[in-house]
Amino acid sequence: PEAPVLPFRVGHGWDLHRLEPGYPLIVGGVDIPHDRGCVAHSDGDVLLHTVVDAILGALCLPDIGQLFPDTDPRWKGARSDIFLKEAVRLMQERGYTIGNIDCTIIAQRPKMSPHKEAIRDNLCQMLGAHPSVVNIKAKTHEKVDSLGENRSIACHAVVMLLKQ
Ligand code: CDP
Ligand code: ZN
Repeated sequence: PEAPVLPFRVGHGWDLHRLEPGYPLIVGGVDIPHDRGCVAHSDGDVLLHTVVDAILGALCLPDIGQLFPDTDPRWKGARSDIFLKEAVRLMQERGYTIGNIDCTIIAQRPKMSPHKEAIRDNLCQMLGAHPSVVNIKAKTHEKVDSLGENRSIACHAVVMLLKQ
């Protein structure tokens, strides 16, 4: 059958990074003061990776690891906004725009609420979206498992794209 032209597309993204002392903690492009940060090939921005995968998933495109393999030296220490810019370009190329996006950061520490507005502003700018359609929230992991023991940080996101 012919490919349908969908007026809406829903995508889901998820990512997790190990936390270790001596690394920066960058979430949504914001440098967050903490006693540890993400061990990763790129800058380890768990929120941007999640959003990239949600957008790519909505478009039924290959995921972030397929588009930007961590075996490629080009992406070593890369700022994750490069990945998001590419996802947005692929989205626009197909005639879609952000309908809305809802993200949940899972971190036992640090408190994300003081940084949520800065993260939202950054994300809005990168996505070319209005703040009323970009939501950021955070949860602890009730002190259990690696997330709850502050040995990792994770993020979930759901995005809806609108055909222009
Ligand atoms: O009360 P409940 O178990 O549902 O949530 P929680 O994980 O205890 O988190 C309570 C509130 O703290 C959340 O609703 C967030 O607003 C905030 N929070 C945060 O700012 N940063 C985190 N790393 C975790 C939670
Ligand atoms: Zn990641």
